[in-house]
Amino acid sequence: MKIGSQEHRDAFCRHFTQTYTEYDPNTLPWPVLDDEALQRIRSVPFWEEVFYTERPAGAIVAAFTETVAGREETRHARLIRVMIEKYGLDAAERPLGDISEDIETRFKDFGFGECLDSFLGFGLFKIALQSEFLPKEMLRIFETLMYEETRHIVFFVNWMAYTEAQRGWVARAILPLTSLRYYMRAMGRMAGLARRGRELNDGKNFAATQVSMFLDGFNFRRFLEDCYSENSRRMSAFEPELLRPSFMPQLANTALRALRLWSSQAKPEPDSAACRYQGKGP
Ligand SMILES: [Fe+2]
Ligand SMILES: [Fe+2]
Repeated sequence: MKIGSQEHRDAFCRHFTQTYTEYDPNTLPWPVLDDEALQRIRSVPFWEEVFYTERPAGAIVAAFTETVAGREETRHARLIRVMIEKYGLDAAERPLGDISEDIETRFKDFGFGECLDSFLGFGLFKIALQSEFLPKEMLRIFETLMYEETRHIVFFVNWMAYTEAQRGWVARAILPLTSLRYYMRAMGRMAGLARRGRELNDGKNFAATQVSMFLDGFNFRRFLEDCYSENSRRMSAFEPELLRPSFMPQLANTALRALRLWSSQAKPEPDSAACRYQGKGP
């Protein structure tokens, strides 16, 4: 299948609509949480951020493409709102900015941002699952969300490749560079968010909260490995001829190789110190 052809467009649109599932966030099987689980979910510092990423998302996507993606993003925001209200999570009201200007760039920024967020989200979700940070019923609800985000990013990278190919051979040829620029912007936004988060949470000691359960024994390499393997696992569920986001997995793969090389070289030679001092008795 030629990327950028009508056949390609039909394939990614068909796949996207076929994998849509209907549900209402209000009637999902939300579990009753005991005090400990409530404490834990309330101590997660980023619900507000999740909510305010999902909230304008529906509007941006709906304004730009006539797909079910807009409806799904709106539903994600509703789902997070239901959860915030149900469990009394900390998420202050924030005004929604105007999104009408340069909607195409906003849509692309949003799409590449989702590729970045989802890749990291795959690893975080795996840790949450393994550490049993939240009850299984709750994680099952999040699993629906994760699956939809995976569908969105697969749709997005195919849409992006199709759109750029339609613009002509120059746009098609420089697509990797165009994508890189958007990924850099997404990373810049994420770094800004992390900085603001640190400032905001200054003084709050997360080690003393339930989040420490999440962070205890946190190992960056393990995290990256989880992101990478979970990404491969989740992506294998999609039709093989469709494109998949490749920048984050490639970046992680390179980083992991460097980390492995570094740790294999940093390892001390067995008993080298003992050998050196052998026979040098007093
Ligand atoms: Fe979403
Ligand atoms: Fe999404």
